[in-house]
Amino acid sequence: MASKTDKRSPSYSQLEAGAERAKPSLHRHAREIQPYGKIARLPIALDQKVCAASAENLNQILADTITLRDLYKKHHWQVSGHTFYHLHLLFDKHYNEQNELVDTIAERIQSLGAVSLAMAADVAETTIIPRPPRGREEVPVQISRLLEAHEFLLKEARTMARQAAEAGDDGTNDLLVSDVIRTNELQVWFLAEHAVDTPAVR
Ligand SMILES: [Fe+2]
Repeated sequence: MASKTDKRSPSYSQLEAGAERAKPSLHRHAREIQPYGKIARLPIALDQKVCAASAENLNQILADTITLRDLYKKHHWQVSGHTFYHLHLLFDKHYNEQNELVDTIAERIQSLGAVSLAMAADVAETTIIPRPPRGREEVPVQISRLLEAHEFLLKEARTMARQAAEAGDDGTNDLLVSDVIRTNELQVWFLAEHAVDTPAVR
Protein backbone atom coordinates (compact mmCIF):
# COMPACT_ATOMS: atom_id res chain seq x y z
CA MET A 1 0.00 0.00 0.00
CA ALA A 2 1.43 3.44 -1.06
CA SER A 3 2.16 5.91 1.69
CA LYS A 4 1.51 9.69 1.54
CA THR A 5 5.21 10.26 0.84
CA ASP A 6 5.06 8.05 -2.32
CA LYS A 7 2.20 10.17 -3.75
CA ARG A 8 4.23 13.38 -3.31
CA SER A 9 7.35 11.88 -4.92
CA PRO A 10 6.27 10.09 -8.12
CA SER A 11 8.84 8.25 -10.25
CA TYR A 12 10.34 9.87 -13.37
CA SER A 13 8.16 7.77 -15.69
CA GLN A 14 5.06 8.93 -13.78
CA LEU A 15 6.25 12.55 -14.14
CA GLU A 16 6.70 12.24 -17.93
CA ALA A 17 3.49 10.29 -18.66
CA GLY A 18 1.14 12.38 -20.83
CA ALA A 19 3.76 15.05 -21.65
CA GLU A 20 5.50 13.20 -24.55
CA ARG A 21 4.20 15.60 -27.21
CA ALA A 22 5.60 18.63 -25.34
CA LYS A 23 9.13 17.18 -25.06
CA PRO A 24 11.76 18.94 -27.16
CA SER A 25 13.30 16.71 -29.80
CA LEU A 26 17.05 16.96 -29.19
CA HIS A 27 20.36 15.84 -30.76
CA ARG A 28 18.96 15.64 -34.29
CA HIS A 29 21.22 15.41 -37.33
CA ALA A 30 20.41 15.45 -41.03
CA ARG A 31 21.96 16.47 -44.33
CA GLU A 32 22.06 20.20 -45.05
CA ILE A 33 19.03 21.44 -46.96
CA GLN A 34 21.30 23.65 -49.13
CA PRO A 35 25.05 23.21 -49.46
CA TYR A 36 27.28 26.28 -49.49
CA GLY A 37 27.87 27.51 -53.03
CA LYS A 38 24.57 26.20 -54.42
CA ILE A 39 21.61 28.34 -55.49
CA ALA A 40 18.01 27.71 -54.39
CA ARG A 41 16.39 29.79 -57.11
CA LEU A 42 13.97 32.52 -56.00
CA PRO A 43 11.55 34.31 -58.37
CA ILE A 44 13.54 37.56 -58.63
CA ALA A 45 13.89 37.61 -62.44
CA LEU A 46 17.67 37.12 -62.29
CA ASP A 47 19.57 34.33 -64.03
CA GLN A 48 20.98 31.69 -61.67
CA LYS A 49 24.50 32.25 -62.99
CA VAL A 50 24.21 35.97 -62.21
CA CYS A 51 22.94 35.16 -58.69
CA ALA A 52 25.81 32.71 -58.14
CA ALA A 53 28.46 35.18 -59.34
CA SER A 54 27.04 38.01 -57.18
CA ALA A 55 26.77 35.73 -54.14
CA GLU A 56 30.38 34.59 -54.51
CA ASN A 57 31.55 38.22 -54.63
CA LEU A 58 29.30 39.22 -51.74
CA ASN A 59 30.58 36.36 -49.57
CA GLN A 60 34.10 37.70 -50.08
CA ILE A 61 32.91 41.21 -49.11
CA LEU A 62 31.06 39.68 -46.15
CA ALA A 63 34.17 37.87 -44.84
CA ASP A 64 36.22 41.06 -45.16
CA THR A 65 33.52 43.23 -43.55
CA ILE A 66 33.23 40.84 -40.58
CA THR A 67 37.02 40.96 -40.21
CA LEU A 68 37.16 44.76 -40.40
CA ARG A 69 34.23 44.98 -37.94
CA ASP A 70 36.10 42.76 -35.47
CA LEU A 71 39.32 44.72 -35.97
CA TYR A 72 37.41 47.81 -34.84
CA LYS A 73 36.21 46.03 -31.68
CA LYS A 74 39.73 44.78 -30.95
CA HIS A 75 41.04 48.35 -31.21
CA HIS A 76 38.06 49.70 -29.21
CA TRP A 77 39.18 47.46 -26.34
CA GLN A 78 42.94 47.74 -26.73
CA VAL A 79 43.41 51.45 -27.56
CA SER A 80 45.75 53.45 -25.29
CA GLY A 81 47.21 56.93 -24.79
CA HIS A 82 45.93 60.50 -24.45
CA THR A 83 43.28 60.02 -27.19
CA PHE A 84 41.97 56.87 -25.51
CA TYR A 85 38.43 58.06 -24.78
CA HIS A 86 37.87 59.71 -28.15
CA LEU A 87 39.18 56.75 -30.18
CA HIS A 88 37.48 54.23 -27.89
CA LEU A 89 34.14 55.81 -28.90
CA LEU A 90 34.99 56.33 -32.58
CA PHE A 91 36.16 52.72 -33.02
CA ASP A 92 32.90 51.46 -31.51
CA LYS A 93 30.80 53.75 -33.75
CA HIS A 94 32.54 52.34 -36.82
CA TYR A 95 32.17 48.80 -35.41
CA ASN A 96 28.40 49.29 -35.18
CA GLU A 97 28.18 50.68 -38.72
CA GLN A 98 30.20 47.73 -40.07
CA ASN A 99 27.97 45.38 -38.09
CA GLU A 100 24.91 46.77 -39.89
CA LEU A 101 26.69 46.24 -43.20
CA VAL A 102 27.38 42.60 -42.25
CA ASP A 103 23.66 41.94 -41.84
CA THR A 104 22.75 43.81 -45.05
CA ILE A 105 25.33 41.88 -47.10
CA ALA A 106 24.42 38.48 -45.61
CA GLU A 107 20.71 39.02 -46.23
CA ARG A 108 21.40 40.11 -49.84
CA ILE A 109 23.25 36.81 -50.36
CA GLN A 110 20.24 34.89 -49.01
CA SER A 111 17.92 37.01 -51.20
CA LEU A 112 19.88 35.84 -54.23
CA GLY A 113 19.03 32.24 -53.26
CA ALA A 114 22.58 31.57 -52.05
CA VAL A 115 24.08 30.73 -48.66
CA SER A 116 25.97 33.38 -46.70
CA LEU A 117 29.11 32.68 -44.70
CA ALA A 118 28.53 33.01 -40.98
CA MET A 119 31.04 31.35 -38.69
CA ALA A 120 34.41 32.70 -37.57
CA ALA A 121 36.44 29.75 -38.91
CA ASP A 122 34.93 30.14 -42.39
CA VAL A 123 35.47 33.91 -42.28
CA ALA A 124 39.13 33.43 -41.26
CA GLU A 125 39.70 31.06 -44.19
CA THR A 126 38.14 33.51 -46.66
CA THR A 127 39.18 37.03 -45.73
CA ILE A 128 41.98 38.83 -47.59
CA ILE A 129 42.59 41.24 -44.69
CA PRO A 130 45.92 40.41 -42.97
CA ARG A 131 45.62 38.90 -39.48
CA PRO A 132 46.74 41.28 -36.70
CA PRO A 133 48.72 40.06 -33.66
CA ARG A 134 46.76 39.09 -30.54
CA GLY A 135 48.56 41.68 -28.43
CA ARG A 136 48.06 45.44 -28.18
CA GLU A 137 49.54 47.89 -30.65
CA GLU A 138 50.03 51.66 -30.41
CA VAL A 139 47.49 54.06 -31.92
CA PRO A 140 49.32 54.93 -35.18
CA VAL A 141 49.66 51.21 -35.96
CA GLN A 142 46.01 50.55 -35.10
CA ILE A 143 44.91 53.36 -37.42
CA SER A 144 47.13 52.35 -40.33
CA ARG A 145 45.99 48.72 -39.97
CA LEU A 146 42.35 49.86 -40.17
CA LEU A 147 43.05 52.14 -43.17
CA GLU A 148 44.73 49.26 -45.04
CA ALA A 149 41.75 47.00 -44.35
CA HIS A 150 39.34 49.68 -45.62
CA GLU A 151 41.37 50.02 -48.82
CA PHE A 152 41.32 46.24 -49.48
CA LEU A 153 37.54 46.37 -49.10
CA LEU A 154 37.01 49.45 -51.24
CA LYS A 155 39.15 48.11 -54.07
CA GLU A 156 37.27 44.82 -54.33
CA ALA A 157 33.87 46.46 -53.75
CA ARG A 158 34.38 48.83 -56.72
CA THR A 159 35.36 45.95 -59.03
CA MET A 160 32.40 43.86 -57.83
CA ALA A 161 29.97 46.79 -58.19
CA ARG A 162 30.96 47.14 -61.85
CA GLN A 163 30.60 43.37 -62.38
CA ALA A 164 27.11 43.40 -60.83
CA ALA A 165 26.04 46.37 -62.99
CA GLU A 166 27.31 44.70 -66.15
CA ALA A 167 25.46 41.47 -65.25
CA GLY A 168 22.19 43.37 -64.65
CA ASP A 169 22.15 42.74 -60.87
CA ASP A 170 21.11 46.26 -59.88
CA GLY A 171 20.29 45.32 -56.26
CA THR A 172 23.81 44.05 -55.60
CA ASN A 173 25.34 47.02 -57.42
CA ASP A 174 23.26 49.42 -55.30
CA LEU A 175 24.21 47.67 -52.04
CA LEU A 176 27.91 47.76 -52.92
CA VAL A 177 27.85 51.42 -53.99
CA SER A 178 25.32 52.98 -51.60
CA ASP A 179 26.12 50.94 -48.49
CA VAL A 180 29.57 49.31 -48.65
CA ILE A 181 31.56 51.89 -50.65
CA ARG A 182 30.00 55.01 -49.13
CA THR A 183 30.26 53.75 -45.52
CA ASN A 184 33.88 52.68 -45.96
CA GLU A 185 34.90 55.93 -47.68
CA LEU A 186 33.38 58.02 -44.89
CA GLN A 187 35.06 55.92 -42.18
CA VAL A 188 38.40 56.27 -44.00
CA TRP A 189 38.05 60.07 -43.87
CA PHE A 190 37.36 60.04 -40.10
CA LEU A 191 40.30 57.71 -39.48
CA ALA A 192 42.82 59.21 -41.88
CA GLU A 193 42.49 62.68 -40.31
CA HIS A 194 43.84 61.13 -37.09
CA ALA A 195 47.01 60.16 -38.94
CA VAL A 196 47.83 63.79 -39.89
CA ASP A 197 50.63 65.17 -37.75
CA THR A 198 49.30 68.64 -36.88
CA PRO A 199 50.28 70.53 -33.69
CA ALA A 200 47.78 70.48 -30.84
CA VAL A 201 48.36 74.13 -29.80
CA ARG A 202 50.87 75.86 -32.12
FE1 LIG B 1 32.60 48.72 -25.32
